[in-house]
Amino acid sequence: MSKPLSPETMALVKATAPALQQHGVEITTRMYQRLFVDPEIKALFDMAAHESGAQPKRLAAAILAFAQNVDKLDVLKPAIERIAARHVETHIKPEHYPAVANALLPAIRDILGEAATDEILNAWGEAYWFLADILINREAQLYQTEAA
Ligand code: HEM
Repeated sequence: MSKPLSPETMALVKATAPALQQHGVEITTRMYQRLFVDPEIKALFDMAAHESGAQPKRLAAAILAFAQNVDKLDVLKPAIERIAARHVETHIKPEHYPAVANALLPAIRDILGEAATDEILNAWGEAYWFLADILINREAQLYQTEAA
């Protein structure tokens, strides 16, 4: 299980989540511009979109929404199950997670500008990895079950 976030980090994330969600579409769009520069990462989404017929915009939106509940994992549990299952279907692996962090955090800075202080971005980075670790662990279990 991931190390719990500090109360300070949680407070910062929760305080800034509404502002981020307000600019959600812009941040999401910017994140995908950054993410899809890597053809290997883009291919993961092309295949998924093909299967589901849906745009993968839910991902960034979910990260923003999720962060508001970093202190209430019970609330997130059903969503974590669904996301992990979808990730396993689309072959998402631990090594893909840094690319999303590296796209999302600069996208927040791109859109919010000076308002996104280093302190805020660090808090969001920690929250991202907290959620990512939970997903990575759950996905590892699912891949193992699949292989057995
Ligand atoms: C904390 C990190 C992440 C969160 C919170 C997250 C969240 C989500 C959510 C909410 C969905 C939609 C699930 C559904 O169908 O109901 C999704 C799907 C997906 N995610 Fe993630 N994700 C994360 C990391 C990643 C990473 C690192 C990758 C790959 C680089 C990735 C690739 C995908 C793909 C390909 C889909 C399927 C999209 C589709 O159905 O068209 N995700 N994710």
